[in-house]
Amino acid sequence: MADVDPRVELAGIPLRNAVLTASGTFGYGTEFAPFLDLEKIGGFVAKSLTLEPRFGNPPPRIGETPSGMLNAISIENVGVKAFLEEKLPALPAGVVVIASAFGTAPEQYAELAARVSPHPRIAGIEINASCPHVKAGGIEFGQDPQLLGELVRTVRAATEGPLLVKLSPNVTRIADMAKVCEDEGADGISLINAVQAMEIDVRTRKPILSNVLGGLSGPAIRPIALRMVYQAAQVVNIPICGIGGISHAEDAVKFLLCGASAIQVGTLNYLEPGAAERIAQGIAQYAADHGFARVADLTGALELG
Ligand SMILES: Cc1cc2nc3c(=O)[nH]c(=O)nc-3n(C[C@H](O)[C@H](O)[C@H](O)COP(=O)(O)O)c2cc1C
Repeated sequence: MADVDPRVELAGIPLRNAVLTASGTFGYGTEFAPFLDLEKIGGFVAKSLTLEPRFGNPPPRIGETPSGMLNAISIENVGVKAFLEEKLPALPAGVVVIASAFGTAPEQYAELAARVSPHPRIAGIEINASCPHVKAGGIEFGQDPQLLGELVRTVRAATEGPLLVKLSPNVTRIADMAKVCEDEGADGISLINAVQAMEIDVRTRKPILSNVLGGLSGPAIRPIALRMVYQAAQVVNIPICGIGGISHAEDAVKFLLCGASAIQVGTLNYLEPGAAERIAQGIAQYAADHGFARVADLTGALELG
């Protein structure tokens, strides 16, 4: 295993390995420092930011299902100012940080990107065009190719830094959404966000979330995510970051084989806060066991037929 090169590149961002942690499931990074060495994972995507601090939906806003988690947090975050002034400086120097931008109009995303991406600690921006439970904003951008195109175009004009677009699975044709991002100048795409879902408590006869609808994440969505990464990879040449229900190194490898250059670990962080480091080691082990000199060579190595 010693001679496997674990390094990959995502949207022009060099990563020490292919494992990032997903926005909203890893706080602002420091919360996880007691559980894993932040400098041993590829990097992390911070909680989505809005221009002003934002309170999310009232509780209950998280619930369990037999194979995943349902949430309707709705982008509760400290806002861009506190992120830049308080959260970023608290991180160890070698940690790769990707900021996530959210807004209700393309101009808000663009302003966020313009404020955050020049910061020397920020490796890139991921725009969250896909939050499944915010009434105005993310979900519309992620579901309408024209709006998505306008969003990517507007943010692209506001930053020269690496730009990833995080896609919604709540669409009919994921390949069309991926292509729009490439055409409008994104450097990469991340997929998927949570799948719109609901759950009911039959004792109370009420939905388990105050918001009624939420986003399903965790093992239940992994095959859906894998299918979408595969379909997106057929139509774009920009790198893909695969997300959705990854729990083991082999899950991560499946995304790489389907065409992802890197992956993100999300819901699993709540169960096993050190999981990303374990998965990074497991991917390198898989590469060694299967005769790959570089983890990067796993990308697109799916055998069909
Ligand atoms: C509690 C929670 C909060 C989330 N918040 C965000 C967010 O702020 N921005 C975002 O882009 N995705 C957010 N997500 C979606 C995750 O980043 C990820 O795309 C999704 O959970 C699927 O991956 P997983 O199955 O590994 O969790 C959130 C997910 C959860 C479970």
